[in-house]
Amino acid sequence: MINTDAIFHVKGESQFIDDRLTPEGTLYAAVFTSPVAHGKIIKINTAPLKRIEGVVKVITASDIPGENQIGNIIQDEVLLAEDEVHYIGQPIAIVVGTKPEIVRKAVKLIRAKVEVLPPVFNPREAFKKGHLITPTRTFSLGDVNKTWKECDLIVEGTVESGGQEHVYLETQGAFSYPTEKNTIKVISSTQAPSTVQKIVARVLDLPIRMIEVDVLRIGGGFGGKEDQAVSWAAMTALASYKLKKPVKLVLRRKEDILMTGKRHPYSSDFKMGLKRNGKILAYENTFYQNAGASADLSTAIMERSLFHATNSYYIPNAKINCASCRTNFPPNTAFRGFGAPQAMFVIESAIFKAADELGVDPTVIQKKNLLKKGDVFPYGMKLQDGKMRKCWEVAGEKYKVEKIKERINKFNSNNKIYKKGISIMPICFGISFTSSFLNQASALVHIYTDGSVSVSTAAIEMGQGVNTKIRQVAAKVLSINIDRVEVLSTKTSRVANTSPTAASTGADLNGNATKVACKNLMERLRKVASDYLKVISAKDIQIIDEEVYIKGRKTGLKWDELVNKAYMNRVSLSAQAHYVTPNIFFDRNIEKGKPFAYHVFGIAVTEVTIDCLRGIYEIDSVKVVHDAGKSFNLLIDRGQMEGGIVQGIGWATIEELMYGDDGKLLTDSLATYKIPDIYFAPKDIKVHFLKDSNSLSGILKSKAIGEPPFLYGIGTYFALIKAIREFRLDLKVNFSIPITPEKVLLSLYEKI
Ligand code: MTE
Ligand code: HPA
Ligand code: MOS
Repeated sequence: MINTDAIFHVKGESQFIDDRLTPEGTLYAAVFTSPVAHGKIIKINTAPLKRIEGVVKVITASDIPGENQIGNIIQDEVLLAEDEVHYIGQPIAIVVGTKPEIVRKAVKLIRAKVEVLPPVFNPREAFKKGHLITPTRTFSLGDVNKTWKECDLIVEGTVESGGQEHVYLETQGAFSYPTEKNTIKVISSTQAPSTVQKIVARVLDLPIRMIEVDVLRIGGGFGGKEDQAVSWAAMTALASYKLKKPVKLVLRRKEDILMTGKRHPYSSDFKMGLKRNGKILAYENTFYQNAGASADLSTAIMERSLFHATNSYYIPNAKINCASCRTNFPPNTAFRGFGAPQAMFVIESAIFKAADELGVDPTVIQKKNLLKKGDVFPYGMKLQDGKMRKCWEVAGEKYKVEKIKERINKFNSNNKIYKKGISIMPICFGISFTSSFLNQASALVHIYTDGSVSVSTAAIEMGQGVNTKIRQVAAKVLSINIDRVEVLSTKTSRVANTSPTAASTGADLNGNATKVACKNLMERLRKVASDYLKVISAKDIQIIDEEVYIKGRKTGLKWDELVNKAYMNRVSLSAQAHYVTPNIFFDRNIEKGKPFAYHVFGIAVTEVTIDCLRGIYEIDSVKVVHDAGKSFNLLIDRGQMEGGIVQGIGWATIEELMYGDDGKLLTDSLATYKIPDIYFAPKDIKVHFLKDSNSLSGILKSKAIGEPPFLYGIGTYFALIKAIREFRLDLKVNFSIPITPEKVLLSLYEKI
């Protein structure tokens, strides 16, 4: 079944924030931001704005009736700067006026006098200065210190990975309007309506119930709208509360890129000890996470880096350290993979280096240490299933990896200018929010008297197809045609206290809540049928494909009629259900537990060709064996695979954020910040979903699909390095992504 939104997207009928019809009198906002990365505000001069027709009000921190505080996990972030600024692009004032062009012009006339203070951009420097978001954390298993001396080989090194701009198609934005009794409605492009609701209430000093947040869909989030949709919602809510008018703010692309946080850059150290046969005995590393100017989700992201530091390998002695370092960049935030890509790049680098020293292919070490059922992770959880090795075997056979290697060898010995490389990238990703309490969802299902059904959940549709999946779940459990089911917008007054749609859990959590609600409704309907048909036990009643059966015999009673009978008998046709992921916990005091419902596994085989004259390269193919459990929407899951793979490759290869010495982002538009387009994407993406797999706690035995495919992109880096080395045997690998064509070219000819 296709993602039913696709048709409306293609026709341009889907409504994003800026497509909504605005009421008469709507005002528009624009944001004045800090011109320096660190400084003391001496004076903000807004006098020139008085002369501009159409400017209605300039709002600063002193206008905030409640708290000037938008921090979610840690409260360390102001909505509008008061006396200090901590990054270029930090909001200082909001200009409200009658037209978007007017307020944007007005913002340019504001003058800020700021005393510049020294900024810190490097996380290791921040660490040395003690600028931490939170105390460092360490996960450990066995005893690395005792083990080093048992190793035949020890490799050490450093690894760098860059940030990544989300480039959701719909930029950040919100639209707020006041209603009776000071209540405010907020239409927000957010992955987390309840977070927006809570923080807007805090800023306005109102009870949470007086703020209603409504999200029809968002034009992509990729994590960038898990925490960072709050500012624009709060700004429009504040302006509409003050002015008693509807207020809209939709960032332009450049504003969005400058003001919002990105994927966290990491700088990391590793040490790995192995036996000569490739068995890893010990692994120790430290991640220095570049958090930016405030906490945002950094502590949760750091936690997921700790969880995924050993990727798909069993390592009996491991010590994983992470420091979240405060710097003068915009607060970095969630991005598909949530700290796992950064961590996995480090261990894959360590394996690559160890393989070099042992004189073997990295796949020898990868395979030797691959997880098997019952293996324990550094965080204490035991692996429940043996699908990791299965994926490896299937990939080897299905894609004839040995044959590809032969073909590549032949190609390389016959070509001087073009060189090919291949890599294997195994992945293992834990499903559940790492903060256990977030693993809850609820659903509200109404059956109307015409037999049609509406479902409301906490899930945000962001292009990942969660609404289609929820429709499928409801239609399946109620055994009705899917066209009868609609998923409504995600609204805090229909479904309250929601978790963000994130951590790839959207379909699992909200699908399961929907399933429970629908099951409850079915139970009631069977009772109605058994009363009407005078059957003693409702257990003998089945409702299949909109028809009522008694012990497998047709009764002639149809869905519409049954629903109507229920209504006439005053039986409720509405159900609300709450779902929690069973049996998960994590104890942060001892850093052990069972934080994940299950793991997702897979293998990617990546083949690349570089042009050794120009440094440019092509990704020939990415061939994947992926464990999606028992997928109930292959088309959507394939779409998630392809999108995730390409996005991961973008991070590893061409997406490069460049800054001036003053911390100003130079790549502030899509002309200078290049993301993969259709020409850059792999010529061939093959996805094979592992057969005979299912998951006990995923929705309808499927496994979550959202984030894991991103991790396959890491394989492209290693395939490129292999190709470069075919041209230049003495290459000194510096384990740094992105590996742009420019860097490839330099590495081909640079003197060492
Ligand atoms: N796919 C599209 N098209 N757009 C998105 O914004 N976000 C990704 C992934 N796939 C995203 C996407 C991220 S970061 C997550 S966590 C999951 O979708 C969230 O949705 P799910 O939990 O329903 O999989
Ligand atoms: N993943 C994604 N988002 C989150 C998480 C997580 O584990 N925890 C809090 N927000
Ligand atoms: Mo996804 S980074 O968990 O929104």
